[in-house]
Order: sequence, then structure tokens, then C-alpha cells
Amino acid sequence: MRPFHPQAIDLNSSAHALPPDFTQSQFRHALGQFATGVTVVTALNPQGGLVGLTVSSFNSVSLAPPLVLWSLAHKSGSMEALLACPHYVINVLSAEQTELANQFATKGIDRYAGVHWSPGLHGAPVIHGAVATFECFNRSRHDEGDHIIFVGEVERCSHREQADPLLYHGGSFYTGGLR
Ligand SMILES: Cc1cc2nc3c(=O)[nH]c(=O)nc-3n(C[C@H](O)[C@H](O)[C@H](O)COP(=O)(O)O)c2cc1C
Repeated sequence: MRPFHPQAIDLNSSAHALPPDFTQSQFRHALGQFATGVTVVTALNPQGGLVGLTVSSFNSVSLAPPLVLWSLAHKSGSMEALLACPHYVINVLSAEQTELANQFATKGIDRYAGVHWSPGLHGAPVIHGAVATFECFNRSRHDEGDHIIFVGEVERCSHREQADPLLYHGGSFYTGGLR
């Protein structure tokens, strides 16, 4: 098989995207039609404090090596810690964890209050009851628009069989189950 060199694609360097003919709200609503799961990304800050936030931008990138991605808003209060931490955990929430999804998206509270978790390989919190967990090395970061795309190299992963995931669509959570 021929190796793939993305930089060799002949993109006309003078070409630009057309300006959007839609409002930010229309864009948001269109994006909201893409149903996703819901994760909580957890880490330790350089002082050993707990960091965590709700993230739905998670996706797979590569099987070999095992890579995943997610994106973090520039304005995120967790940015400094997540840029600095060598490892983080992506916890995929179950249908029973809507409360956690809201808790980890709320500012000014103790997000870990009442949360059951254990330290992972490098100490970052692995949340009990998640349907899957990915313990990642913080492999690379890519600045695009108003977000930073994080690519994680998965060092450990686990999943629960027969557990329903929490789903997110059009700004609402769905817990009905898939079976
Ligand atoms: C379902 C859901 C998905 C979210 N996905 C993301 C995401 O992918 N990236 C992001 O930066 N914020 C996302 N957020 C928003 C953050 O969780 C929220 O702004 C949080 O307060 C950020 O915390 P921080 O400022 O302490 O980092 C999401 C929120 C919800 C409810």
C-alpha cells in the first residue's frame, strides 16, 4: 500500500473558505443534530488537584497506534491544567450519569462532590460506573479556531458490557437505552 502524505494534497494556497452565510445560532443548531455520547475528561493539575469537565467532542482517530481526540474551548478554565498534564482520562458516561454530565459542566461548584472514582495508572480519576474509560497520554495539541484539539494516545481502556450510554442530541440528554 502506498503511504499517505496529507501534506502532498494539492491545495491551492490562495483558496479561502467563503464567509459563512449562517448565524452562529444556526450553526450550533445544525451541529446539535449530530448525536453524540457524553464524556467527562479528568486529570490532575500540576499541584495534584482534581480537574474535570463534560466533553461531547470526543471521537476515535486511529487503531494503531490507539489514538482519540476531543476539543477544548480556549475560554475553558481547565485549559492551563490540561495543557500541562501529561495524562488524562476520558470517562464515557452511562445513561444513569446525567447528573454527573451537568455537574461537570457547572462552574463554581466542587465538581467531584459525591463522585465515586479511583486513581488510574498515573493518578487521574477513573469515574466508577462509566460505560468505557480511556486512560490517555497527552500526545499532541492543535490550535484551531476557538478550540484546541487534543489527541490522546490510549494507554489503558476498559468498558462495561450491556451498559447503556448517555446520549446527547439537540441540546438534550437521552437515557432511554439502545436495546
Ligand atoms: C453535553 C455537554 C458537552 C460539552 N462538550 C464540550 C466540549 O466538547 N468541549 C468544551 O470545551 N466544552 C464542552 N462543554 C462545556 C463544558 O463542560 C463547560 O463549559 C464547563 O463549565 C467547562 O469547564 P471549565 O471552564 O472549568 O474548563 C460541554 C457541556 C455539555 C453539557
